[in-house]
Amino acid sequence: MIVCSCSMISAKDIAEAVSTLRTKDPFVVLTPGLIYRTLGKRPSCGSCLPLIAQLMVGYDEQGPSSAASLPRHSPNERQD
Ligand code: FES
Repeated sequence: MIVCSCSMISAKDIAEAVSTLRTKDPFVVLTPGLIYRTLGKRPSCGSCLPLIAQLMVGYDEQGPSSAASLPRHSPNERQD
C-alpha cells in the first residue's frame, strides 16, 4: 500500500525504517521526519504525515524492541 504518493513510500517501507531505526538505537525518538530521512526522501505536500505517524507508532508497538517491551522501571527501583 502506497502511503505517500509524492515520494512513493509504502507501508512496508515505513515498517522497515522503524525496524532499522530501533535496531540501531532502541531509545530513538521516532518522528515522520526521521522516517523520511532514513528512507532518503523528503515530504512534499505533507498530507501523508498523519498516516505515516500512525503507521510508525503501530509498527513500533509491534516490534520486538518496541518501547512497550522496554522495562518501565529502572534496575534500582523496587517493584513490589
Ligand atoms: S503524500 Fe506524502 S508528501 Fe505528499
